[in-house]
Amino acid sequence: MLQGKKIILGITGSIAAYKIAHLTRLLVKEGAEVRVIMTAAATDFITPLTLATLSKNPVLQDTIASRTSGEWNNHVELGLWADLFLIAPASANTIAKMANGQCDNLLLASYLSARCPVMIAPAMDLDMYVHPAVKSNLDRLRSFGHLVLDAAKGELASGLNGQGRMQEPEDLLNEIRKALSKKKDLAGKTVLITAGPTHEAIDPVRFIGNNSSGKMGIAIADEALSRGAKVILICGPSSVKSAEGVMRIDVTGADEMFKAVKKYFSGSHIAIHAAAVADYRPAQRASQKIKKKDAALTIELEPTTDILKWCGEHKSKKQFLVGFALETENEIENARKKIRSKHLDLIVLNSLNDKGAGFAYDTNKVTLIGSNNKLARFELKSKQAVATDILDAVAKTIA
Ligand code: CTP
Repeated sequence: MLQGKKIILGITGSIAAYKIAHLTRLLVKEGAEVRVIMTAAATDFITPLTLATLSKNPVLQDTIASRTSGEWNNHVELGLWADLFLIAPASANTIAKMANGQCDNLLLASYLSARCPVMIAPAMDLDMYVHPAVKSNLDRLRSFGHLVLDAAKGELASGLNGQGRMQEPEDLLNEIRKALSKKKDLAGKTVLITAGPTHEAIDPVRFIGNNSSGKMGIAIADEALSRGAKVILICGPSSVKSAEGVMRIDVTGADEMFKAVKKYFSGSHIAIHAAAVADYRPAQRASQKIKKKDAALTIELEPTTDILKWCGEHKSKKQFLVGFALETENEIENARKKIRSKHLDLIVLNSLNDKGAGFAYDTNKVTLIGSNNKLARFELKSKQAVATDILDAVAKTIA
């Protein structure tokens, strides 16, 4: 499957660097052409000779290949040559530099010149991995459209136990296979996605909101984009970045989200409603901050429009409509009712009873139910992987 595929492996300073010898071997065995670029720190962990032997190509380290002859390694050519650029292990230092466009070695210069898909496999100790600086750098890299592979959990070189291990070579090989076989099965389609919570104003400083982070809907938007779709993302308040290329409309309240959906719905082929839209909003929005009093405060709430239901009632035969359902009891039965009452083609059922699934997590566990009542249950996975499953189901049905 990887016959003739051109892959750059960028190795940075982490003990996991030794595992790249095995990955190189696996890739070459599958027929890939592999070029290895190492940072100076990476060479402390594994020798260039090992990787040159296994990749059957000289390992590149410096922009200047020979100071006597003036021969140099052309980072632009390298960047254009590759079908895929994997940085593994990616250290906190290299991740920070990539996120900020810094360019003080051949690996970074080639990365900045690359036009191919970029994949990043972080490896570091657990406290480093969860540090807000590293997290925000990784989010930034995701927002560039790169695939950041979650670090695995387990024993770390420090002796601590937790998340931070680079994914195993076999898993990296699988991700490479997946990325290089990525279908553009949504090319020519416009996909409308709602994501995030809504904030319903009580007064100028307070609102009624919910715990949705926006991660699930944004992962679907990024995945749809990478499969060739034109993506319109209508997103409630969320700090999560979406990939460059997604047309993002940021909104605050359910009303504003509804207006934006009405504007773009008829022009979409597929609409996926992942937003956690408030069902009620304050009937009156106080124009001034409500002052504290001794007596109890009652706020009257009025229903918002069910945006998904509106889409179900207004969709044409050619449009494909996906809703989400968050249930705590009689899950399957309630989800099936929603398919009928909202005229859906597919529903994504989340259960708050599943550990690791729902608002606060980077993972989710879903069941997909089609309008034919067929049911597919999935394991707990990253929200990116769930997005792939959802769009696989959509693409299969509309094909
Ligand atoms: N939804 C919507 N507009 C609303 C409320 C919900 O578009 N005002 C959409 C959500 O984006 C989601 C789906 O409806 O795709 C399901 O939301 P959920 O809260 O699970 O169901 P409800 O229909 O609101 O019913 P209930 O809260 O009673 O379960």
